[in-house]
Amino acid sequence: MPNLTQHSTSISFAERENRNKHKSAVLWFTGLSASGKSTLAMATQRELFNRGIQVTVLDGDNVRHGLNAGLGFSNEDRDENLRRIAEVSRLFAETGMIVLTSFISPFERNRELAQTIIEPLNFFQVYIKVSLNIAEERDPKGLYKMAHSGEINDFTGVGSPFEEPEDADLVIENDAQSVEAGVDQIISFLQEKGIIS
Ligand code: ADX
Repeated sequence: MPNLTQHSTSISFAERENRNKHKSAVLWFTGLSASGKSTLAMATQRELFNRGIQVTVLDGDNVRHGLNAGLGFSNEDRDENLRRIAEVSRLFAETGMIVLTSFISPFERNRELAQTIIEPLNFFQVYIKVSLNIAEERDPKGLYKMAHSGEINDFTGVGSPFEEPEDADLVIENDAQSVEAGVDQIISFLQEKGIIS
């Protein structure tokens, strides 16, 4: 827009990182419903918070009640849901925080767009991987059952596809392992990447 000017922030990134004593990043979790994304995001948030790190979680069910109320589960609405979440994640990351996002993000194009929006800030794709069988067995909200009985259309994994990421930065095999093991993997990953010490 020609009549809008973006103000450059007067606080540099280096200043924020120096004060926080860690770098900012977006960890973009992706995976089926009931794969454990939110559980892992919340447990990781707790661990990072306890270490004095500036961290927040953006979670599917919460964001869909507020910012993205009114968006459904058509392909177009999922695209818009995830585009907005990527923009919000970027805003948080620009303040120096570590942002954990917990959304199915079923399509490769959703994850690619998120990366494009968030880079050159640190962006990592974290695939919370479970087999569809396990997700359907867990079914904590009874949604897979409703999808199979036709009460919900376009449910991811049943009536709508989940495109498995092929270029995830981190894959958490979450069929059987504990939450603590997943959190340990994520913390080690952040240390390897030099985001936290
Ligand atoms: S996404 O596809 O746009 O990334 P998002 O993560 O925000 O989805 O929301 C997924 C959550 O919404 C699921 O965990 C589930 O609780 C609920 N949900 C309701 N209807 C559907 C549906 N048709 N497909 C997938 N999830 C659904």
